[in-house]
Order: sequence, then C-alpha cells, then structure tokens
Amino acid sequence: MEIKHIFVVGAGTMGSGISQTAAVSGYQVTMMDVVPEQLERARKIIAKSVEKLEGKGVIDQPQVDAAGQITYVDSYAAVAGADYVIEAATENPELKLKIYAELDHLAQPEVILASNTSSISLTKIAAATGRTDKVIGMHFFNPVPLMRLVEIIRGLATSDETTATAMELARRMGKDPVEANDSPGFISNRILCPMINEAIFALQEGIGTVEAIDAVMKLGMNHPMGPLALCDLIGLDVVLFVMEVLQRDLGDDKYRPAPLLRKMGDAGYLGRKTGKGFYAY
Ligand code: CAA
Repeated sequence: MEIKHIFVVGAGTMGSGISQTAAVSGYQVTMMDVVPEQLERARKIIAKSVEKLEGKGVIDQPQVDAAGQITYVDSYAAVAGADYVIEAATENPELKLKIYAELDHLAQPEVILASNTSSISLTKIAAATGRTDKVIGMHFFNPVPLMRLVEIIRGLATSDETTATAMELARRMGKDPVEANDSPGFISNRILCPMINEAIFALQEGIGTVEAIDAVMKLGMNHPMGPLALCDLIGLDVVLFVMEVLQRDLGDDKYRPAPLLRKMGDAGYLGRKTGKGFYAY
C-alpha cells in the first residue's frame, strides 16, 4: 500500500517533531491529541521550527506551506482514513495499551501501527492488537527535525514486510534508520540513560557542579551538549521512567535511578518543559 496519509497520536514535543518532519517530506498529516491546548502548543512549536529552518535554507516555501496543512484533531475518528500510524503518546504502559486497542479497532486492517516509545516493549504493545505482525517501534530523537536517527524496533511477531516499510518511511522522512532488537531501552536508551543517570550521581556526590560535569563531557568527549543539559531536554520524568524500566526488566541494580533524579522529579523540576531542571529556562 502506498503511504500518503500519516496519523500521529500525541501532540507533545516528539509528536510535533514527527508531524512536522512527515509534512515537510510530502505526507498528508493528521495529528491527534485528546488535550486541545496541547494541539495549539504543537501548532506554535511547528510554526517556529519551520520558520527557523526556512530562514537557514534547510527547507523551502512549499515545505513551510506543507507544514501549515497539518490537520489537528482531538478524536481518533480520522485514523480510519490513514495509511500509517505513528504513536507518540505519554510513556505510560496502561495508557499506551488502551490507545493501541482503540487504534486497532479503528484503523484499516492493513495499516501499520508504529510506536515512538523510548522503552516500552514492542512485543507487549503488539499483543494489545489483533495485528501483531504490523506493530513496530520507530524511535525518533529530540529535536526530531534535526536528528538523523530513527531506531527501528521489531516486536517478536513483527513481519519483514512491516520492517521494510518502516525503514523506507524513515528514509523518505530524511532519516537514517537503524535496527535494534526489542530489549529494555533498545540500543539508544540502554546506553544513553545510564550515562545521564551516572552524571546525576556525580552531581549528587559533589564530584563536580552542573556546569563542570557538562563541560567535561562537551570539551573532553565532544558531546554536543552535556548530560545534564541533555537530561533537561529529554525530560527528567522520561529519564527516570527509562531507568526504572532498565532496573526492573533487566533485573540489575546497576541501573538504579539516582535519588537526586527522583527528588527533582518529585519537585516538578522536569527540565525545559517546566522551565526548570538542572538549569533554569
Ligand atoms: N527546529 C528547528 N531548529 C532548531 C530546533 C528545532 N526543533 N531545535 C534547535 N534548533 C536550532 C536552534 O534554534 C539553533 O539555531 P540558531 O543557530 O539559528 O540559533 C540551532 O538549532 C543550533 O542550536 P543551539 O545553538 O541551541 O545548539 P547546538 O548547536 O548545540 O544544537 C542540538 C542543538 C542539535 C540540539 C545539539 O545540541 C544536539 O545534537 N544535542 C544532542 C541532542 C540529543 O542527544 N538528542 C537525543 C535525545 S534522546 C531522545 O530524544 C530519545 C529518548 O528516548 C530519550
């Protein structure tokens, strides 16, 4: 089936970036969120991002116009007319399973359901549907319009055909897909989140200040941003959730979340999205 119309679930940072990237790549995009204010926020994020990219000559006016054609809806009904679904809802397993049951019910039977989950098992998500061969992980990276990687994760029953279609879609969206197995954190977060968590332990133990820890990784390891600034970008709640998944599902306490990470989350310091994390925004 030729993919023309992509239905994106979730209008957060990732859903916005995915919708924008799909639209400027020539796809008709419908973006769905049950919270109307979130859709309004997404519209503004996308407008700002395309303006920036157009100013730099990365995209042209027709692509800016294409991003302006994204349809914003607050119900699942339009998924019935979609050729492909990318879900980027909150990382809450119970919520995701409910969403998949709904998508499975409403989407055409041949449609692939791809999840942007950063750590929930694709095999488990697929089991909430009657199309386990057509469920796959498409894990994008923040900020989506700039980051080249899409991690492609197969669940136990994902077919070769579904994998090939997802890889091709990622390429058509200007990304470089890389395959990973369905294991906690996949490749990306199995490596990235423990590094960030260790940086938080280093801060908690007074080994260095926030600025010093980030400077070491930027200047000594050439990382584009330090691990604490990156944690603010990703969201402290997301990093905590991933560490909890790694600790529980791999059964190894070497993945225990740093107490400071938990404490800052309890205080509502979730990073850029709340205006405060390791830095103030
Ligand atoms: N759209 C358009 N432009 C954007 C943008 C967006 N969404 N986000 C940033 N930019 C622009 C900035 O506005 C800036 O433009 P100007 O130079 O004109 O001011 C430009 O990009 C460069 O940004 P900065 O000067 O702020 O900083 P930078 O040179 O360090 O680049 C960065 C920013 C691309 C984010 C870079 O720091 C970087 O690659 N950081 C690492 C990001 C990363 O690791 N992401 C993955 C997180 S993990 C994840 O997402 C998945 C998960 O499961 C946890």
